[in-house]
Order: sequence, then C-alpha cells, then structure tokens
Amino acid sequence: MLSTMRTAKTLAALSVIALLAACGKSDPNSPGVEYMPDMYRSPAIEAYVDYGQDPYYHTEEKARTQRDRVTARKPVPGTIAFNEDAGMAMLNAPYPFPNTPEGYEAAGAELKSPIAMTQATVDNGKAIYEKFCMHCHGATGQGDGPVVNNGKYPPPGAYNGPLKDLPEGKIFHSLHWGKNVAMGSHASQLSKEERWHVTHYVQFLQNGGKMTREPEAQAAM
Ligand code: HEC
Repeated sequence: MLSTMRTAKTLAALSVIALLAACGKSDPNSPGVEYMPDMYRSPAIEAYVDYGQDPYYHTEEKARTQRDRVTARKPVPGTIAFNEDAGMAMLNAPYPFPNTPEGYEAAGAELKSPIAMTQATVDNGKAIYEKFCMHCHGATGQGDGPVVNNGKYPPPGAYNGPLKDLPEGKIFHSLHWGKNVAMGSHASQLSKEERWHVTHYVQFLQNGGKMTREPEAQAAM
C-alpha cells in the first residue's frame, strides 16, 4: 500500500515536470530544449542556391558572409571537360590548328582521328553526310548534289577523284573552319565526334565505297 502511494506520488511529480517542460515556454512554436538539433534539423539545401555554411558549425555571422553566393560556377577559362578515355577527352580540348594555310598543312600532317574507323562510325558518318553534305557533294561524293547542279555553286571535287588523297586531318580541318568561300564551317552543327564520323565516311567514299583502314588503326589526336 505504501509503495503504491509512493509510486503514485512519483508519477504525479513526474507529470508536473513533464507538463512544465512541455508548456512552460511562452512561445507556442518553440520546440523546447533540443539536445542535438543538427541530428534532426538538417538544412534543406536546394541545388544552385547558396545558403552559406551551416551556422551550427560556424557562427551565424560567418554563415551570413557566405550566403547569397553562386554555388554553380562557370569553369575557369581553359577547362577541359573530363572523359575517362584520353582520346575522347582530347575532343574536348580547343582545336589547335589555326585557320591559315599553314594550319591547314599542319592539320594534314599531324591530325589523326582519335576514333577508330569502324562500320558503325562509317554508317553514322553516312547518316550525317546525307543530312549535311549530300545536297552539295552528291550521294557518292562526286560533287554533283542538287545545289551544285542548280548552277549556283562551283562543283567541289569528287572524293574518289581530285580529293582522293586528301588526308583525314585536312578533311577534318575543312569541316572545322570551312573551305574557301564555297563551303562553310560545320563546327557549330556537328560535334567533333560527329565530324570524325563524317570524315570516316568521306574516306570511305575516297576509297570507292570500301573501308580504308583496319578498325584498330588509330592514333591520338
Ligand atoms: C554548300 C555546299 C556544301 C556543303 C553543304 C558541304 N560542302 Fe564540302 N565543299 C563544298 C565546296 C564547293 C568545296 C570546294 C571548296 C574549294 O575547294 O574551294 C568543298 C570542299 C570539301 C572538301 C575538300 C576540302 C579540302 O580541304 O580540300 C571536303 C572533304 C568536304 N567538302 C567535305 C564536306 C562534308 C563532309 C560536308 C558535310 C558535313 C560538306 N563538305 C558540306 C561545298 C559544300
């Protein structure tokens, strides 16, 4: 009986304490004492918004100095997009050969496709060629596309004729910068990878519709 009384008293005392702890604050929105607030109140961070550093770890003053800054920054000039494949990473580097006769010759001598020529690259090159080149250069690269046949354009040389021995570096260079006044640059329409694929297709046509190189033959750009 005595112990029941004691338990009842203890319980009553505890509930008073609990009540005081829960309702004792004047601010009804206050959560009361928080022991480890950062455990359950993680900051709600949204992408591209800088809220500054967490004031739980740094002073509010320091956090404020960090706020309102842009989180997503522009890469510094000269940044090259990462690619695990070194050859493909080189495609992200700036094109090194200038739009000069010397640049053209240097590209012809030094520039090699970083992508192996395969049936797949030739097929993709053909699809690109049919959209971007065929109307001038003709279906088989004879320089007899409808634009030329209109008489408005000078006919480009046939790939398997006067342009038969044009090296891949010069083909790519002409795609990058354009060729004289008659052919514009295709750098903004086609990625470098696509320009290499269409270069492979031009080489395929140069060779009379045959693969010119073995699939594994490739060199770094
Ligand atoms: C508006 C018509 C036109 C289009 C489109 C065009 N070309 Fe040409 N292309 C020409 C003409 C014209 C020449 C010859 C320019 C000269 O030698 O003055 C030429 C030249 C070339 C050459 C020879 C470059 C050199 O170094 O001598 C290649 C290779 C070539 N084009 C490939 C392409 C490919 C591939 C495409 C499509 C991505 C393409 N061209 C799109 C008109 C065009």
